[in-house]
Amino acid sequence: MQLFKERISFLVSSKLKIKEDLISLIEIPPDQKLGDLSLPCFNLAKTLKKSPVEISKSLSELSDIYFSKIEAKGPYLNFFINPTILSSIVIKEILKQKAKYGSKDIGKKESVLIDCSSPNIAKPFSIGHLRSTIIGYSLYKIYNFLNFKAKTLNHLGDWGTQFGKLIVAYKKWGKEAELKKAPIKHLLEIYVKFHKEAELNKDLEEEARKAFSQLESGNKQYLKLWKKFSEESKKEFNKIYKLLDVKFDYTIGESFYIPQLESTLKILSPLLKEDNEATIVDLSQFNLPPALIKKSDGATLYVTRDLASLLYRINKLKSKRLLYVVGSEQSLHFEQLFSICKLLNLKVESHHIKFGLIMLPEGKMSTRKGNVIFLEDVFNKLEELASEILKEKGLSSNKKETAQMIATASLIYADLSNDRVNTITFDWNRVLDFNGNSAPYIQYTNARALSILNSGFVNNSGFVNNSRFVKGATLTKQSPDFSKLIHPKELTLIKHLSLFQEKVIQSYQSNKPHVIANYSHELCQIFNEFYHECSVLKSQKDLKDARLSLVKAFTIVLANAMSLLNIKLPKKM
Ligand code: ARG
Repeated sequence: MQLFKERISFLVSSKLKIKEDLISLIEIPPDQKLGDLSLPCFNLAKTLKKSPVEISKSLSELSDIYFSKIEAKGPYLNFFINPTILSSIVIKEILKQKAKYGSKDIGKKESVLIDCSSPNIAKPFSIGHLRSTIIGYSLYKIYNFLNFKAKTLNHLGDWGTQFGKLIVAYKKWGKEAELKKAPIKHLLEIYVKFHKEAELNKDLEEEARKAFSQLESGNKQYLKLWKKFSEESKKEFNKIYKLLDVKFDYTIGESFYIPQLESTLKILSPLLKEDNEATIVDLSQFNLPPALIKKSDGATLYVTRDLASLLYRINKLKSKRLLYVVGSEQSLHFEQLFSICKLLNLKVESHHIKFGLIMLPEGKMSTRKGNVIFLEDVFNKLEELASEILKEKGLSSNKKETAQMIATASLIYADLSNDRVNTITFDWNRVLDFNGNSAPYIQYTNARALSILNSGFVNNSGFVNNSRFVKGATLTKQSPDFSKLIHPKELTLIKHLSLFQEKVIQSYQSNKPHVIANYSHELCQIFNEFYHECSVLKSQKDLKDARLSLVKAFTIVLANAMSLLNIKLPKKM
């Protein structure tokens, strides 16, 4: 629609002899009867010192090839897009730009660093870390699509008092062989045992505190244990990243910043205050509780390591825009972190990209109580259910691979189809519902479109000749006659395709990938309506060529949208 908005802006401002860019004022009317685009004339009334109704009336005399009708309705000027122009411009543009369709140079190569995933060593990869990974990675793709230089950073939680607990627990109950076999399960077991025992034996906590302090001062035996936990955990995390097809530009554990803490404290020194032997930064001017920088026993803290990391991100990784994709429960932490940045006058733009919980029907998780759901089990169950459905429906020759693609996509889509700030209740049936707002619905619709194209290519000797069409030859010579596309379902589909770029930009502006997810679902619904009412392969040649191009354009836009969500589309189902 952008192109048509630009055209309206041009037409109106030349007619009124003003220089203003009117694009941002143009709306999509609530009802199709009021046209495809509408310009409210209130703002112009101020500039021209005339009533908006008068202005809209005078502008209704405009005429232009892009619009079949321009009509004044009170203070609004409504535009009806010329269907032939719409079809040919939109479809040609999509076929020309292909994987780039919908992109725009908003970023101008500016760097953005996205902190995402960031699980904790020696603990199961939680659903929260899964959300962070999925949302963060999608934002990474969206930013890059808009020509930012986005990078992902996995801020591994590999330091903190919990390692004191783990070291004590491992010394008491740990078993080498079990650690090798199932590291996270074993570490979780002894971690849970620690908390149980600590309720009866108060000395344990003190022992753990000491162990962590020794670890911080470089105890060799403890460092060796810690390293082992860390390496085993990373192997497990990598399995999940592989399933999700996610990669990180940087993986930097919190421990990396320990040598930089001294210089960080120096930078902070004008802000530091002693409080009951602990060191704090007073944040009362921001209406926030003080940030605890150093404990009375000298142990360092999460926020202190985050500050060191933030300075590293600005100074060494050269990023001026930082996103932190972390659950809402850490809001206070980030408010404190960013307030300290303000006090330090740091030139950086930082955002906490918050998200709510995912509740599994099985209930809430607590690592301390050992109440956890292992992600691998979730994947496996989804895959099993997916292959059952495929079997029931008699679909797919490549069952194992397709079931895997559906499983992963369902998990990603269950997350990204919701506004990230909401709490999601995960429902096994809903995420795999082939007729609902789900990944398999989208994947299936895409496979259906691809199969039409395949048959079209095979049987069509004209324009949609496989090699020329697929490799994207220019459409100048034998471009189909797009004026044939006049069916309301065709026009609705084309209009929806033309909205893609605006949706990508909205997603970027709000840091919310669900805008693209929901757009894609609507796009598939509209495509299916078109498919039911307009036969592609059985139409006569000219119409068939035009419709095949439309189907091709649909598959391009859908693939672009899914790529921004990091969802894979099977070629066949
Ligand atoms: N590891 C932390 C946790 O699980 C999340 C880290 C988020 N990133 C950050 N820079 N604080 O709670």
